[in-house]
Amino acid sequence: MSRERVDHEEEQTLQQHAQLLAELPRAVGTFQKDLYLYQGYWLNSGSILNTMFIQNHFNHHSTDIFLTSFMKSGTTWLRSLMFTILNRSRFDFSDHPLLRKGPHDCFPLLDSYKPKDYVITDNSPRLFATHIPHKLLPPSITDPSSGCKFVYVFRDPKDVLVSMWHFLLKLKPKEVHPLSFDQMFKMFCEGVIIGGPYWDHVLGFWSAALEFPDKILFFKYEEIKRDPEGHVKKLAEFMGVPISVQEEESGMVKKIAEFCSFENLNSLEINKTGDHKADNGVVVPNQTFFRRGEVGDWKCHLTEEMKDQIDRITHDKFNGSGLTIGGAPPK
Ligand code: A3P
Repeated sequence: MSRERVDHEEEQTLQQHAQLLAELPRAVGTFQKDLYLYQGYWLNSGSILNTMFIQNHFNHHSTDIFLTSFMKSGTTWLRSLMFTILNRSRFDFSDHPLLRKGPHDCFPLLDSYKPKDYVITDNSPRLFATHIPHKLLPPSITDPSSGCKFVYVFRDPKDVLVSMWHFLLKLKPKEVHPLSFDQMFKMFCEGVIIGGPYWDHVLGFWSAALEFPDKILFFKYEEIKRDPEGHVKKLAEFMGVPISVQEEESGMVKKIAEFCSFENLNSLEINKTGDHKADNGVVVPNQTFFRRGEVGDWKCHLTEEMKDQIDRITHDKFNGSGLTIGGAPPK
């Protein structure tokens, strides 16, 4: 497409976006920033614009694989696993790209897509990560005839909530008053957080995974924790690069699982001192993406009442869907 045409189409999307924002329901989100209710999800102005850019302009390849998640559900882990699995024959573990760059720099975040100035490598399959709800992704990608595949990682909402609170505290601009855990809890339960409501985000991908199981692989953080090697094999198979018998015998599965473990990634110099520069210019220290990496850390933060409230919402929302929280407790 010619540059002029792109400019013109981008301009049209910008105009539609400005018009839309004026009409959408609005609420105050974390950091006192406005959120807008867009097609059932609370997003900020920038994420609505980028979603519209994706809906209007993104050209998929039939081999694209998307890592999808609600934030703080295990994206960093899955990014590392997917990248390492796909490139296992290209890189040696002693001289691996993940020793030099953080997991968030090994493949692009679709959410920051703009028709111009968005770098995509020509590798096939291309990998993208996204927090965009299933319903807001363009049918050109989500329709099974597109050929695209999706990996969704789901985590106990109580751990997501706690992880999110810590993450936002670390990224808080100096001038903004810190969000108390009680405030965060209320916003999370009401669904008024970026990408929320959490439950609708999960259910969108869950229903699609039930309908098209060969296109959407639905993982639970707690189950990966319990059996990382089993999940490495499932992921490799799903991504079209199954682990061979020779690889299995040579210990490749174990090596990948250990290399991408919380303990290993968290101990790497690049993740202790390096930064990830988000496309909106915000610099996020890689260390922000690693905290405890445990199942059940919510027990240190939620009162019995809070736990009951969130479990009740989850029970009501997931009722009849067949989806349950967690897996067997980790060994
Ligand atoms: P905690 O805050 O509970 O420790 P995301 O990657 O989606 O932003 O999620 C971040 C959460 O995943 C954080 O959870 C972080 O510690 C955890 N995490 C990061 N890397 C991990 C890994 N390799 N294994 C398990 N958990 C990981």
